[in-house]
Amino acid sequence: MKLAIIGAGYVGLVTAACFAEMGNEVICVDADRAKVEALEQGKIPIYEPGLEEYVKRNFTENRLFFTTELAPAVSQSLVIFIAVGTPQDTDGSADLSMVLQVARDVGRHMDGYKVIVEKSTVPVGTAAKVRQVINEELQKRGEAFEFDVVSNPEFLKEGTALDDFMKPDRIVVGCDDVRVAELMKELYAPFVRTNHPIIIMDVVSAELTKYAANAFLATKISFINEIANICSRTGANINMVRQGIGSDRRIGNLFLFPGLGYGGSCFPKDMQALIHTARSLGYPPRVLEAAEAVNQDQRRIFLDVIRKHFKDDLRAKVFAVWGLSFKPLTDDIREAPALTVISRLLEQGARIQAYDPEAMSATRQFFGNHEAVSYAASSYEALRGADALVICTEWARFREPDFERMKAALKAPVIFDGRNLYNPDKLAKLGFTYFHIGQKLEM
Ligand SMILES: NC(=O)c1ccc[n+]([C@@H]2O[C@H](COP(=O)([O-])OP(=O)(O)OC[C@H]3O[C@@H](n4cnc5c(N)ncnc54)[C@H](O)[C@@H]3O)[C@@H](O)[C@H]2O)c1
Repeated sequence: MKLAIIGAGYVGLVTAACFAEMGNEVICVDADRAKVEALEQGKIPIYEPGLEEYVKRNFTENRLFFTTELAPAVSQSLVIFIAVGTPQDTDGSADLSMVLQVARDVGRHMDGYKVIVEKSTVPVGTAAKVRQVINEELQKRGEAFEFDVVSNPEFLKEGTALDDFMKPDRIVVGCDDVRVAELMKELYAPFVRTNHPIIIMDVVSAELTKYAANAFLATKISFINEIANICSRTGANINMVRQGIGSDRRIGNLFLFPGLGYGGSCFPKDMQALIHTARSLGYPPRVLEAAEAVNQDQRRIFLDVIRKHFKDDLRAKVFAVWGLSFKPLTDDIREAPALTVISRLLEQGARIQAYDPEAMSATRQFFGNHEAVSYAASSYEALRGADALVICTEWARFREPDFERMKAALKAPVIFDGRNLYNPDKLAKLGFTYFHIGQKLEM
């Protein structure tokens, strides 16, 4: 099929590359000229394992094209995916300006029947808005081309995005027309050869499904963090409790790790948007609001432990920070816990020596030329002369470090572990003062 993907970000670029990999002809449109030029030279603007190979192969074999021009992409494609950002607006709702701008542009340029697919995460009712905006543009032009609007939310995870897209647990398609459902099934058939389902539903249900999925996962994270905070007050071992409940198939082990709370480009904004939707419809979503509140608190609790250890005086203290991205295997720092932790430490006069395998350039942009933040070439270099190590992201390489080398580099052998990477008994034997999530508090 001939497809247009509008937006070449984490979702758009993966979607484009994976559809091209299956033999479709895909035009990927992005408004950012520098990004498009880089892509045409084989440079991938984000870090996502395996993506570079996919993009290069399909670009070289003429199945994947990049452009800033929407008009020809719309004209040449039957199916147009909208994969632009839907960031959080000031009132917590999803900012739909980019999605509706694309819809307007599609209406301006379409020259025949088209299927417009919402791939971006958008609140209930957005398909109706997209339809309305396109109709307005067609009316202005005196045209009456037919089109359908489909909701096809994306469930990929950054870090394993290609695998998730190529072998999805399920594909959700919201549409009101049987023929369009058949078209979407045909498009996705190569991705579900192992019989994972393509679930066809109405548009509104598909729009809500994406938010419900993210809200459930975010709530699971807040739930285990809340249990960890109860462990801190009871002396129970959170890692044992986690295993004890996670092995129950009804609960499951995934998304059950205590830590600094959820971050990233999706969970925080999608929780806020769902809360906003529910509240605007007269329903206060108590579980979601509680999950959000626990999430906000989680970083404060961690910072309190650091402050307490240094007797409320962080002035001129030096912290090595391992991990800046919101999770491993990505360079995405949107809403990353590390940014909150670093910002609060800086406010209290501390200095930071940061290290991350992929997210240092994004973090450098975020903090600008802050004189109290430096970036180390390796995890061990970040430790040099530091008063303590703070671990914010669980990159695999942090799991089995050379503890003796760490001790030699640090000014004092103190670790604040926001991801529970190590065995507390082992670290105590090695002479570390080791703080982790869920640790017993001195009451
Ligand atoms: N990142 C994820 O893991 C993930 C997973 C599932 C769903 N989503 C959802 O997918 C959507 C996109 O997320 P993302 O992380 O890929 O965003 P992103 O910010 O990485 O990418 C969006 C891209 O759209 C481009 N763009 C904006 N306006 C445009 C326009 N008018 N025409 C052409 N290009 C335009 C931007 O330049 C940018 O490159 C969001 O709604 C998000 O919630 C994201």
